[in-house]
Amino acid sequence: METSFSAFAPASLSNLGPGFDSLGIGLSTWKDEVRVVLIQEPNFSVSFDPTGCWSGPIDPFRNTASVSAMHVATKAGYEGGARMTIQKGVRAGSGLGSSAASAVAGALAMNAALGSPFSKTELIASCLAGESVVSGAVHGDNVLPSLMGGIVLVEPDSPTTFQHIQTSCLLHFAILLPNIEVFTEEARSLLPDHVSLHSAAIWASRLAQLVLAISNGDLSRIGQLVMEDDIVEPVRARLIKPYRDIKLAALKEGALGCALSGSGPAMFAVCDSEDSALRISKSMHLACMRHHIESLAISDHVNFVGAFSN
Ligand code: HSE
Repeated sequence: METSFSAFAPASLSNLGPGFDSLGIGLSTWKDEVRVVLIQEPNFSVSFDPTGCWSGPIDPFRNTASVSAMHVATKAGYEGGARMTIQKGVRAGSGLGSSAASAVAGALAMNAALGSPFSKTELIASCLAGESVVSGAVHGDNVLPSLMGGIVLVEPDSPTTFQHIQTSCLLHFAILLPNIEVFTEEARSLLPDHVSLHSAAIWASRLAQLVLAISNGDLSRIGQLVMEDDIVEPVRARLIKPYRDIKLAALKEGALGCALSGSGPAMFAVCDSEDSALRISKSMHLACMRHHIESLAISDHVNFVGAFSN
């Protein structure tokens, strides 16, 4: 009987307002699973489990999971191939790090199949290589939190360099995923190439304050600061018709802050308890419904474990 190796990698929030391309948080509810069976012939094949929430490219050179798995295989000097099956739990085009979750699970499952020659840290470059196939750029603010868990600060131009931000507060999120697809590459192409020195200084200060608020466990300041991106979010918000109403609904229901995750359309609200996160997510859902747009609404919290294989 053939042996199959599985790995799971979670969805993640990214950007969080002024942390564009540098701040991300691993989430707990939605995960991708990748299963790998090693074969002797030196080919990689990809299929999608029909029970997953999405199916994507099966060309192994265009699929984030297989590209990262092939990167691991090459690095390990493995000359055989693999059959890979992906079960998507994180919807593509969501802003919740779907391509990163597949890339991470692909690298981790391949690593497990090869007898775990690499640590998670040694797998970062493979995961980034996989994710870049879809996003058109190497940015680690979804890959790192999905792989490592927790709240992560990465360097945008060198995303293998990262740090965990410790916090004393329990962060709860209301998350709304509207039935609108926004693909990262397109959402990035809308952004300005340059910003003024003045704007850059304000942005840098806000990110520093946000990191400080997280590490001080100052929930209301975190909530305030995630809403203080006036460079990226206003451009992308135009792609999401109910954006303003969802945000107002969340704040009216007691959210401490509300913003887009990544390139959207997912939005998250910072909440002070699981109960309030549930209540706020329902109110965000209703606001979206008023625009005749279906959505998924959940309450979620930080995943401190990240990806794992078994
Ligand atoms: N930081 C990336 C962006 C994340 O905002 O384009 C993509 O989800």
